[in-house]
Amino acid sequence: MDDRFNTIAGWTLFGGIVALGLSSLSAHYFLADKEHRPEKMGYAIEGVVEEGAEGGAAAELPLANLLAAGDVAKGEAVFAKCKACHTAEQGGANGIGPNLYGIVGKPVGKHAAGFAYSADLAGHGGNWDFATLNEWLKNPKAFAAGTKMSFAGLPKGEDRANVILYLNSLGSNLPLPAPEAVPAAGAAPAATAALVGDAAKGEAIFAKCKACHTVDQGGANGIGPNLFGVYGEAVAGDRGGYAFSDALKGHGGNWDDATLDQWLTSPAKFAQGTKMTFAGISDAQQRADVIAYLKSKK
Ligand code: HEC
Ligand code: HEC
Repeated sequence: MDDRFNTIAGWTLFGGIVALGLSSLSAHYFLADKEHRPEKMGYAIEGVVEEGAEGGAAAELPLANLLAAGDVAKGEAVFAKCKACHTAEQGGANGIGPNLYGIVGKPVGKHAAGFAYSADLAGHGGNWDFATLNEWLKNPKAFAAGTKMSFAGLPKGEDRANVILYLNSLGSNLPLPAPEAVPAAGAAPAATAALVGDAAKGEAIFAKCKACHTVDQGGANGIGPNLFGVYGEAVAGDRGGYAFSDALKGHGGNWDDATLDQWLTSPAKFAQGTKMTFAGISDAQQRADVIAYLKSKK
C-alpha cells in the first residue's frame, strides 16, 4: 500500500517537474539574447524546485508533497551541512547549536537542556512542526531575526523536506501531512487527492469497531475509549478517564483527516505499542467513510 502510494506520488511529482522544467526552459529560450542567458545548460532544470527561480514558472511543490516523496537517507546526507554545529543522536552533546534528537514536534527554542538559546528563538513560541521547520531552514534569520544560527538556509525545498524527514526519524516519528493534489499537465488525477467520505457507509463499517468502541454522546468506555467528538481532539486526550497506552499518549498531535487515516490504516504503525489490537482498514475509501462518520458524531 505505502509502496504503491509512493510510486504514484513519485510519478505525479516527476510529471510536474518535467512540465515545469519544460516551461522554464522555454522561458530561458526566449530570454536567450538578454543578460539573463544561462551560463550552462541544465541551470533551468536545477532551478525548478527552487523558489523564485527566474521566469516565474517554478512554483515550489507543497511541503506535504515534498515530504511524501522525500527520502530519509538523502536527508541524512543533507545533514552533513549541519554537523559542524549540531548532533542529532539521542543524548548527543550540544555544540555551537543544540542537540536535535526528537526536535520535531517540540517547542521552538526550548528543547535542548542546558543550551543557551538566543532570546529571539527562545521567545518565538510555537512548536517545530513540519511547516515551522521548513520556514526556519529556508531562512533562519527571517524566522527569528536575532537567531544565533549563522546558517544561510537551504534554498531547495527538496533538501529541506529530506532533512526534516531525517530529523523526524530520530525520536519523533510524527505522521506526515497528507500530500495535496498537484495539477500536473497530462498527469492522471492525483491519487493523493483526498477521498470524499460517506458517513452512512462509514456507520456500516463502524460495526467492526463496536466490539471495543461506543460513539454516541455519553457512551461508556469499553475496551477502547468512547469516540464521540474525537475528530479534532488531541490524540489520546481526556476521554472520560480512559487509560490510554503510553504509546498513544506519547504521540502528540490531533485527530484530523490525515492522522485518522494513518491510524486506521495501521494502528500499530501509527503508535508502536498501542493497545488497539485492530489490524487496520486497507481500503482508503472505507477509511474515508469511517472518518466522515466519526466527524458527524459531534
Ligand atoms: C554554524 C552553526 C550551525 C549550522 C551550520 C546549523 N545550525 Fe542549527 N542552530 C545553530 C544554533 C547556534 C542554534 C540556536 C539558535 C538560537 O538560539 O537562536 C540552532 C538551532 C537550530 C534548531 C532549533 C532547535 C531548537 O531546540 O529549537 C534547529 C531545528 C536547527 N538548528 C536545525 C539545523 C539544521 C537542520 C541544519 C542544517 C541544515 C542546521 N541547523 C545548521 C547553529 C547551526
Ligand atoms: C479490539 C478492540 C478495538 C477495535 C476493534 C477497534 N479499536 Fe479503536 N481503540 C481500541 C483501544 C484499546 C484504543 C486505545 C489505544 C491505546 O491507548 O493505545 C483505541 C483507540 C482508538 C482511537 C483513539 C481515540 C483517542 O481519543 O485518541 C480511535 C480514533 C479509534 N480507536 C478508532 C477506531 C475505529 C474507527 C475502529 C474501527 C474501524 C476501531 N477503533 C476498532 C480498541 C479497538
